[in-house]
Parts: sequence; C-alpha cells; structure tokens
Amino acid sequence: MKIPKRLQPLVDDGMIDEVLVQLMSGKEAQVYVVRCGDEVRCAKVFKEAKQRSFKQAVQYQEGRKERNSRRSRAMAKKTRYGQKEQEQAWLNAEVDALYRLASAGVRVPEPHGFVDGVLLMEMITDAEGNVAPRLDEVTLTPEQAETYYAKVIQDVVRMLCAGLIHGDLSEFNVLVDSSGPVIIDLPQAVDAAGNNSAAAMLYRDVNNMRNYFGQFAPALLTTEYGKEMWALYETGELHPDSKLTGHFDADTHIANVDELMEVIDDAKEEEADRQARMRDDDDDDGEIPQPY
Ligand SMILES: Nc1ncnc2c1ncn2[C@@H]1O[C@H](COP(=O)(O)OP(=O)(O)OP(=O)(O)O)[C@@H](O)[C@H]1O
Ligand SMILES: [Mg+2]
Repeated sequence: MKIPKRLQPLVDDGMIDEVLVQLMSGKEAQVYVVRCGDEVRCAKVFKEAKQRSFKQAVQYQEGRKERNSRRSRAMAKKTRYGQKEQEQAWLNAEVDALYRLASAGVRVPEPHGFVDGVLLMEMITDAEGNVAPRLDEVTLTPEQAETYYAKVIQDVVRMLCAGLIHGDLSEFNVLVDSSGPVIIDLPQAVDAAGNNSAAAMLYRDVNNMRNYFGQFAPALLTTEYGKEMWALYETGELHPDSKLTGHFDADTHIANVDELMEVIDDAKEEEADRQARMRDDDDDDGEIPQPY
C-alpha cells in the first residue's frame, strides 16, 4: 500500500521495508502491518493528543515516575514545551510498559523500538499466521474460558508484581494466539504503588475479564481475584507465581473489641457528666449556663 506520512521517516531510516495493510483503526491509534527485513511486524501510530480520548486523563498518570528531570520540570510548567514533553512521556509509556512486562514474563507483543511516535512490535498471529483475533471475536468452550481466564489472571498478577496495572483491560485489548491470550494496548498503564485509583482500576480490569469469561463458564462469575491479589500486594505477599484461590473474605471483624468498649464507656461517662453539670446550672443562681 501507499506509505502513510507518519511511517515515511521509518521507511527512510530503513526500519520498515514495506507497509502491507492497515488494521482496523482504534480510538487512540492506527495500526499497520509492516515488513521489516523478513519479519512481519505491527506499527502503531498514535493519533495527535487532541484526537485522543479518555486515557490521557490525569487519573492514569498520577504516580508515574519521570526519569528525565529536565522533562519533569518542563511538564510541571505547562508551557508549550512542557506540553510537548508531556506528550512524549505519554507516548513512551506504552513502549516502557511493554519492555517492563516482557521481562516480567507477561505475554505481551515483543517491542522492537519506538521512533517518531511509532511503536514497532511483534505481530500477534493465529495458528495460520494471520493477524490474531481479539478476545471479543472468539467463541470459547467452558474449558477454554477457564484456562484463558487463569492465564490472564496470572499475567495481571505478574504485571502487578512489576508495579503496573493495565487500566483499560477488556476483551477488546486482549488478542488470542495459538497458545492463548496476549495483552495489548498499554499507553495508559497505571503505576500500582503511586496512584490513588490503582485498586479501583485493578478491580475494574479484573472484573471486565471475569464478566467476559463468565459468559462461557458461569462458575467464574463468583470469583474475586481482584480483591484477593490487591490484598496480597498491599501486604507485600504477592509474587509472580502466587497461586490464588479466587476467593476473598472481607475483613469484617472489629480489630480490638476491648478498645472499642473503652471508647463507648468514656463517651457514656462524658455524657453523664454533662447532664450533671446541666442540672447544677439549672439551680437559680442567676449564672448563664456555659456550653461544654
Ligand atoms: N501486536 C499486535 N499484533 C496484532 N494485532 C494488533 C497488535 N497491536 C494491535 N493490534 C490490532 O490493532 C487494534 C488496535 O490496537 P490498540 O488496541 O493497541 O490501539 P488503540 O487505538 O489504542 O485501541 P482502542 O480502540 O482500544 O483505544 C487492536 O484491537 C488489534 O486488533
Ligand atoms: Mg485497544
């Protein structure tokens, strides 16, 4: 096909030899199938910031560490230069996440670099070598649903151990290759330790997966992996190979009953004192009762 303008610099640099076809355009980016030497890869071209939607919201960026201090100072100032740097940081987030997750053993497309706003990565394929379908496009047997769900949960655990939460995990951002689910689309990845919405985002991600796989295997609908893994993560007990149960008992017992009884007794005593003082002030000594 004709070379799209945004891919021309990569063709000129010899990183891309041929542009084969454009995949369905997403909300945030266009994805092309390209040939690099004798390998077929995907090239993800991010849309301009103003064309992008919710994912750039501050909610997602909170807690991200900017390694470049000149850039973080510029970003704080909100000048045009600062905005440009902010944009660059946003674009880098996906490629950073892919490298981090690939080395943490999460099944994501292998990254092959990020140049001029274009992310080059492994193309995920089905058994015939065609572009892999998305999870929302496949029909699963109950057994497959259970196996895939377990794989996705294991990957979400590994991501969390690597300090990241996907933030937009759904059947539209998981591909299916011959060995199972592959998580994609990570520019909004959330910092697990530094973001106040981290737990809520994790629950949403995991529940999206539960509801999706639960259509094929209803027994999965009662699982509580999100809460279980977050509780372990918070106490430092989550490990990449942690075996979860899918059950979570909300901690409802009162931590210290004696302490609570003391507080109640104190409150009763205080109230009795107050009533007594009110009675004293009622005698006709002409004094104005003072509030306590
Ligand atoms: N590595 C890959 N291998 C095969 N197909 C891919 C790959 N990356 C992306 N795709 C295809 O391109 C589509 C868009 O990619 P992606 O989800 O990363 O972009 P997006 O524009 O951010 O999406 P969204 O619409 O979810 O915002 C995916 O749904 C998938 O079908
Ligand atoms: Mg997507």
